[in-house]
Amino acid sequence: MKSKKIAIMGLGTVGGGAYDILAANREYIKSTQGVDITVAAILDRDKAPLEKRGIDSSLFCDSVDKLAADPDIELVIETMGGVEPAKTFITKLLKAGKSVVTANKELLAKHWSELEPIAKQNGCGLYFEASCVGGVPIVRALGESFQGDKVKSVYGIINGTTNYILSKMSSEKLDYGQALSEAQALGFAEADPTSDVEGYDAAYKLSILASLAFHTCIPYTDIYREGITKITSQDIYNAHALGYEIKLLAIGKRDGNDVEARVHPVFVPSDHALASVSGAYNAVYLNGDHVGDLMFYGAGAGAHPTGSAIISDVIKALEGKPTYCDFENSGKFGKDINFINDFESGYYICFTVDDKTGVLSKISTVLSDNGVSIKSAIQRTGKADTATLLFLTHKAREHAVMHALDTIRKFDTVRSIDSIIRVL
Ligand code: NDP
Ligand code: HSE
Repeated sequence: MKSKKIAIMGLGTVGGGAYDILAANREYIKSTQGVDITVAAILDRDKAPLEKRGIDSSLFCDSVDKLAADPDIELVIETMGGVEPAKTFITKLLKAGKSVVTANKELLAKHWSELEPIAKQNGCGLYFEASCVGGVPIVRALGESFQGDKVKSVYGIINGTTNYILSKMSSEKLDYGQALSEAQALGFAEADPTSDVEGYDAAYKLSILASLAFHTCIPYTDIYREGITKITSQDIYNAHALGYEIKLLAIGKRDGNDVEARVHPVFVPSDHALASVSGAYNAVYLNGDHVGDLMFYGAGAGAHPTGSAIISDVIKALEGKPTYCDFENSGKFGKDINFINDFESGYYICFTVDDKTGVLSKISTVLSDNGVSIKSAIQRTGKADTATLLFLTHKAREHAVMHALDTIRKFDTVRSIDSIIRVL
């Protein structure tokens, strides 16, 4: 039986979840994996998180330098979050030859290309299953299960907080603020929930997943990103009336050298499997040229599901056979990649207009002049001589739709363009 000592930096939701799993399943892991893992040190701001869990305060460590210098500690879990000081701490640990297991997608999306070479030079590993899609083992699957396939698409719901909020707004008519507070209380949300609700968290994860899937760096800064803060209960009502649910999707596609990556709310047909993924659950569809369609589904956030991904990485890392990216991890697109900003989609567009003859026809003409074909249109009488117009379009190019809307926005008879949501 091997005995291994590890440390945890950040004993919050995820770090605490990982600690709980090691405590609960230590004997089971010994018997099935042949390794006895002990948490020998815990770094946090103070001892309070240790005391809260009844952990001996002698395990408290106030400096990463002590962890780096401790010859008994082989591996460190980083679950503090944020870029700094996590980046400095991880760099010190890798330079000291200690493998690191992290759940920190923001740090990876921003600095993976700098950290991986340090791990490589020092013969240790940087593991990050927990950074994407919580307890769902998608990172390992992308790295180890599709070597013979060209992955053509990877898309789905990859942020638990926004899915929780949208589900609660849809099924319980909760207002946005109340649903967000619940997600925070349950530990799903980031320290700054702007990262979740404005789509940054999903863009970080998509950057990691699409890079692994397409074997080339997909910088998160190039990913089109739109969050859920503009989604209203009226949008959800209209979506239901038209037979859809609204979901925040992350979409990555590769066709030859053409690559697309975007995060935004989407009208998903109510009978599509993604429409019934609710709460903090996530689901990712993957299509490979030979394996065909696969769906990965499970808890995308939370202490124990994410802790499970951390412990799986810890056990893998302790085998001492680190692997690295099979593509040039430069942080930039590969030279051959053609990144597509002008993607194709269906659109839901909602206008408030003057309730006058000819307004609908004028809007339809501009859409048609820009090559945007209308699939269906609904007019509802609104307040004070206004009408609401709801359009669903056939597939159209993003730039064509935006160009048409720039023209329509200037019409005196158009009071506002209330919503533009892409349709799956
Ligand atoms: P928490 O805020 O619950 O936990 C972070 C812990 O680290 C807290 O105890 C925090 O202390 C401590 N900490 C933060 N900064 C420092 C620092 N500079 N020095 C010492 N201690 C520090 O966060 P989560 O567990 O939710 O998230 C941790 C990471 O896991 C993030 O990268 C997040 O993106 C990722 N993640 C989170 C998931 C989730 O469901 N919550 C799921 C998947 C990934 P204090 O509270 O005093 O700031
Ligand atoms: N804040 C993230 C989410 C945590 O809600 O999905 C899991 O990565």
